[in-house]
Amino acid sequence: MIKVAVAGAAGRMGQAVCEAVSGADDLELTGRADPALDVEVADVLGDADVLVDFTQPDQALDNARVAVEAGVHVVIGTSGFDVDRLSELRGANVLFCPNFAIGAVLMMQFAAEASRHMAKAEIIELHHDQKLDAPSGTAARTAGLMQGDVPIHSVRLPGLVAHQEVILGDVGQTLTIRHDSINRESFMPGVLLAIRKVGSLDRSPVIGLEHVL
Ligand SMILES: NC(=O)c1ccc[n+]([C@@H]2O[C@H](COP(=O)([O-])OP(=O)(O)OC[C@H]3O[C@@H](n4cnc5c(N)ncnc54)[C@H](O)[C@@H]3O)[C@@H](O)[C@H]2O)c1
Repeated sequence: MIKVAVAGAAGRMGQAVCEAVSGADDLELTGRADPALDVEVADVLGDADVLVDFTQPDQALDNARVAVEAGVHVVIGTSGFDVDRLSELRGANVLFCPNFAIGAVLMMQFAAEASRHMAKAEIIELHHDQKLDAPSGTAARTAGLMQGDVPIHSVRLPGLVAHQEVILGDVGQTLTIRHDSINRESFMPGVLLAIRKVGSLDRSPVIGLEHVL
């Protein structure tokens, strides 16, 4: 059994993760940390092998630092923090996935491949209006994997979950690669996979679900 604690357990993603972990035969939910529950991350580390963080951009790094220094591996889903600072963390393993949806990971790989063959590209990312950061972590990561300078446009509207279009253009043609997460369950198979793999990474930090697929 892998013992799992969740930071941001009262949030939209955290609640879905708690449910998914509770439903998995090989995982045990041992702690739920969230200011809304009056439980701090430090209070749930004693019983945990892995901490899953879905909190806020200004909290994720500190939570990860406390966990790895206590010997607890960390899976980070929070976006919008300075990813370069993950390399400062010492102790247990860190796996940061800007997007846990397997279709989104494939979209990033196809976009990277297509950008080597077409003249220009732009990204439109669309999310629900409660999302704190823009551009999304997925869009920033996609652009980083692609060739050339790729502008990103962010749309925030009620009714959306998480969507992204990569549009590539060349003489007389365009190519559009689109991914839609229609609900938060779309992220759960990837989150459970990351929890199962983070303890056996051969380096840390690792960025992207594609490294453990
Ligand atoms: N990687 C992915 O696939 C993916 C998918 C969806 C959302 N996200 C990201 O996940 C993050 C959370 O999204 P959400 O929609 O669940 O947000 P949310 O606002 O619904 O939930 C965040 C929760 O974190 C709690 N929190 C704040 N500071 C904390 C701390 N120090 N310790 C513990 N808990 C703390 C808040 O009280 C809140 O309950 C965002 O950064 C979002 O962009 C990533």
